[in-house]
Amino acid sequence: MKKPDGGAVAKCSSALIVISWFLVVLQSWSLSCLWVEAHPLCRCTHLMTPQELSVIRRAFVFGTFANEAIFITTDDEVYVFGLNCSNCLGTGDSLSTIVPKKLDFLSGRKVVSLSYGSGPHILLATEDGELFAWGHNGYSQLGNGTTNQGVVPILVSASLLNKKVIEVACGSHHSMALTDSGEVYAWGYNNCGQVGSGSTANQPTPRRVSSCLQNKVAVSIVCGQTSSLVVVDNGEVYGWGYNGNGQLGLGNNGNQLTPCRIAALQGLCVQQIVSGYAHSLALTDEGLLYAWGANTYGQLGTGNKSNQLSPVQIMTDKERVVEIAACHSTHTSAAKSQSGQVYMWGQCRGQSIVLPHLTHFNCTDDVFACFATPSVMWRLLSMEHDDFLTVAQSLKKEFDNPETADLKFCVDGKYIFVHKAVLKIRCEHFQSMFQSHWNEDMKEVIEIDQFSYPVYRSFLEFLYTDQVELPPEDAIGLLDLATSYCENRLKRLCQNIIKRGITVENAFSLLSAAVRYDAEDLEEFCFRFCIHHLTEVTQTAAFWQIDGNLLKDFISRASRCGAFKN
Ligand SMILES: *[C@@H]1O[C@H](CO)[C@@H](O)[C@H](O)[C@H]1NC(C)=O
Ligand SMILES: *[C@@H]1O[C@H](CO)[C@@H](O)[C@H](O)[C@H]1NC(C)=O
Ligand SMILES: *[C@@H]1O[C@H](CO)[C@@H](O)[C@H](O)[C@H]1NC(C)=O
Ligand SMILES: *[C@@H]1O[C@H](CO)[C@@H](O)[C@H](O)[C@H]1NC(C)=O
Repeated sequence: MKKPDGGAVAKCSSALIVISWFLVVLQSWSLSCLWVEAHPLCRCTHLMTPQELSVIRRAFVFGTFANEAIFITTDDEVYVFGLNCSNCLGTGDSLSTIVPKKLDFLSGRKVVSLSYGSGPHILLATEDGELFAWGHNGYSQLGNGTTNQGVVPILVSASLLNKKVIEVACGSHHSMALTDSGEVYAWGYNNCGQVGSGSTANQPTPRRVSSCLQNKVAVSIVCGQTSSLVVVDNGEVYGWGYNGNGQLGLGNNGNQLTPCRIAALQGLCVQQIVSGYAHSLALTDEGLLYAWGANTYGQLGTGNKSNQLSPVQIMTDKERVVEIAACHSTHTSAAKSQSGQVYMWGQCRGQSIVLPHLTHFNCTDDVFACFATPSVMWRLLSMEHDDFLTVAQSLKKEFDNPETADLKFCVDGKYIFVHKAVLKIRCEHFQSMFQSHWNEDMKEVIEIDQFSYPVYRSFLEFLYTDQVELPPEDAIGLLDLATSYCENRLKRLCQNIIKRGITVENAFSLLSAAVRYDAEDLEEFCFRFCIHHLTEVTQTAAFWQIDGNLLKDFISRASRCGAFKN
């Protein structure tokens, strides 16, 4: 598996600048979505080749200003770059970097869940169920019993020893982990009871959240800034911690030091739950969407800005919802409907959108890339590269493939393998050739002698790929071919290659070719170039070798436009 080597890393180096820029201007990464085009990190990926890009499997942009990023490659190497706030990069050297650095310590460990707090601190769970933490630790949110910053990833053990962690969630300064047996652990900052321990003392090491969750099997965990929510296997939702805006959905605004069931969701089976800064959204197994908590920016999507102490159903007039999105550091909400429509509401680039607004994004990640402040990711973004090839990609791959070809051309003694059907579909010249006097069994090899091998090969390749890659000198030959086969688009592509390759030395040959192939636009372009560089052009070998009539035409045209004024 190819790794992002020095080259890839160097090419990514302006990512941070891009990120900062993005934040200032508008914020707008693809493998899977517009995110590629839209997100800062995606913009960074525009600096990488498709090969380099193709090794990035998952990515995560985080931090107070979305200035930090983690990406994971196909061979499970973890890279970080960004600002060194609170050592949240975990590189051990306490330095900011715009060049991605590998976290050797995590090398080869498959990441299954990742979350960040406001410090920032980072929690990362691996496929083996190990939990790593680093970054800010002022409230013991790294869970190793101290408050020293974690400069490199440390393995969180204590009560989690021998437990398999499958999911992590961070609030601003508290941490939660869910194990494969449905147990929830919490630690860190506990000023409002967000650790669920029954007190408001900070929790230095992971502690199992028990009380009424004792005999329940949790299936999902999320954190608001200072609140915590879990979904249990029967679809009930429990919350604890800060409740000043009603974010626990209990019908009151008193903080809860231990888990409380959201009774108002009785009878509903919640499948997904997300928390914003101080609001919460729940999606049921029937695709119904409920919102509660803070609503200053319209993040509940109710049409007004009143906080809701209990869940209210929203988007009732819209089709079934299949995914919801929110992040503890933003006031933005997003949802995706059954047919793939993406809605957003709440704080969107400084505006308060009080009702779900239909966007043209095709994933909720893009909403956060473009409209959330900061433009962090609400989840670890996956960019799974499958082996699926589009029609265009498949065609491109089959060009000059002897195994699937049913026809070959022989040019300058070399073969080019093609498919009759493709040629017929893509080029009128071949369509008529194969239609009329073409006997299927007659020929398997077509000899070409009027064009050179590179020219004929790029013509055939063009029919498979829509693209031409030829040096300007060969593009003249291809222009000739395109003219005789009446391929107008190919003609234009050749003219562009020639224009981009014009020099004082070849200008006159190119002009002669343009005249010969009746390429008016190119002729005009070459003529202008010769006029602008008249002295040099007339001293080249090509100028002295040109045909008399063309020379007369040139001189007369040049004088008409005043080239010989004095
Ligand atoms: C962060 O990195 C910068 C250079 O990138 C350095 O000047 C600064 O001291 C570092 N801060 C910390 C807290 O290590
Ligand atoms: C906890 O982590 C901090 C930060 O890495 C480190 O300084 C400290 O020695 C660790 N303590 C224990 C008990 O592992
Ligand atoms: C805001 O909207 C909710 C949900 O529709 C409604 O229950 C509440 O009365 C509204 N508040 C105000 C002040 O209009
Ligand atoms: C997502 O949207 C972009 C344009 O916004 C489009 O080019 C792309 O094909 C869409 N992807 C999917 C999977 O629909």
